[in-house]
Amino acid sequence: MSPWEDAALASLFPTADALPERVRVKPEAHRPRWLVDGEIREAAGSARPVTSRLATRSAAGLAPTLLGEEAMLTVEQAQAAVAAATRAWKQGEGEWPAASFSQRTRAVERFAKAVEAKTDDIATLLMWEIGKAWPSARDEVTRSVEYIHDTLAELKRLHDEDFTLQTGTAGQKKHHARTTRRPLGKVLCVAPFNYPVNEFLTTVVPALLMGNVVLAKTPRFGVLANLVLVEAFRDCFPRGVVSLLPGDGRVVIPAVMGGVEKDLHGNPSAVIDVLAFIGSEGAANAILKTHPVPITLHKVLGLGAKNVAAVLPGADLDAASTALVKGALGFNGQRCTAEKLVFVHRSIADAFVAKLAAKTQALKVGMPWDEGVTATPLPEEPKLPWMRELLDDAAAKGARVVNEGGGKGTFSLMRPAVVYPVKEGMRLFHEEQFGPVLAVAVFDDAGEVLDWQRRSPYGQQAAVWGPLDTAAPLVRAFARFVARVNYNDVCQRGPDSFGFTATDKSGFGTLSLREALLAFSRPVLVQSPEAAALDVMTPGAA
Ligand code: G3H
Repeated sequence: MSPWEDAALASLFPTADALPERVRVKPEAHRPRWLVDGEIREAAGSARPVTSRLATRSAAGLAPTLLGEEAMLTVEQAQAAVAAATRAWKQGEGEWPAASFSQRTRAVERFAKAVEAKTDDIATLLMWEIGKAWPSARDEVTRSVEYIHDTLAELKRLHDEDFTLQTGTAGQKKHHARTTRRPLGKVLCVAPFNYPVNEFLTTVVPALLMGNVVLAKTPRFGVLANLVLVEAFRDCFPRGVVSLLPGDGRVVIPAVMGGVEKDLHGNPSAVIDVLAFIGSEGAANAILKTHPVPITLHKVLGLGAKNVAAVLPGADLDAASTALVKGALGFNGQRCTAEKLVFVHRSIADAFVAKLAAKTQALKVGMPWDEGVTATPLPEEPKLPWMRELLDDAAAKGARVVNEGGGKGTFSLMRPAVVYPVKEGMRLFHEEQFGPVLAVAVFDDAGEVLDWQRRSPYGQQAAVWGPLDTAAPLVRAFARFVARVNYNDVCQRGPDSFGFTATDKSGFGTLSLREALLAFSRPVLVQSPEAAALDVMTPGAA
């Protein structure tokens, strides 16, 4: 038996009989559906069972739990969605792209209500599909509903600002102008499994609000949670404006991205105008290569990250250790913003690591519906073997797991591990683990931490913990390499009014309430020496 096996954890998985009533899922209710051309269709023939790594325990052992079915769309079905989207877009003159801001706003308000009404259904599926603990699963939905309302308010502000009369002079001549915004076209949205609903809606909703037509590839884990919204999408938006595309991304995404039309000259013109993608760098690169006319593609990408935290002498070790255990191990470390490497100054390293170990040890392991649980089943089957490879590699090169039982597990459950001291040459020093492993390295001089960041291909966020006088130069230095530096706080996406962005291989473009609206639209100016004329002729004036 592997030294990492902890068979005792098997008892935490429920038997079919012992499952609490409120979390039961009826597989027959989750048919292999998809949304195309304003119709909910059931995949004829080609579907796969959707199973959960929240295993069911029986005398035979642990086995994945059946949740429902996913439609495995063919290339032809994906192309049918592209054709429907093209009809809905109608060169920018379709019903939705040509609708007024207030018409679109009303549709999105209706949609927000429909999402809110399904909060518990979606959260229940998030528990099953990705193992997210109940409070966080609910929070993912409520945060998304708030995001929609905040985006609506931001759109109003943006519209008012844009629409304000501008006056300029060129030579002796006076010019007046008003600006409006128009959609970019057909948007492919691809969301990740760790926030399959929230990071789906945070791209889909701003894209729709600005008048675009959306083809949304549902994530591999979280597909059923998103399909809870299939009726709402059908009922709130005109035919073809939203397509929900389940299935194998390697089949569906190239079929959508590769869509080509002919322009006036008979030259190829791409169907997809915008890619909004949150996931891995490798997948993003593969997708981008399938676009036929790359210069016309707008993109917003949220990719991998290996955020570091630096803990300096004089830092509040209690506050920093509590926050970093949550920052690194919250949702089992499966957050792009998680601290994936914590550098601690040698003078405080032993004391700090002891606190990290004790606080990690106290984290409750169990099922997502268990009260106070932190460590829950991991949705990806190869995740446990991969985490163990990283731990074995670190151990072979001189580090050790400092919390008792850390790294041990069974089936899809793993006790979170604190590994120390992680050094150059170990995989954990540079590889994004995206799992329940808190890697701790030691430094003597802050220059070593900066040297790591300078050489890292990632550039999302960093965190600095310590007194103002010693932290300030480090914060300033980090600001040259990452997109956000957090002082005495963990790395995180929120609040949503702040821009969420990254540099280098961690991302491209910014998502926030305002920036997302800008990312899915372009400004159009109407100018004239006759100011009064602009009141009636600028699009959006009515
Ligand atoms: O996985 C990446 C998410 O955008 C992280 O968001 O910091 O709110 O957990 P969060």
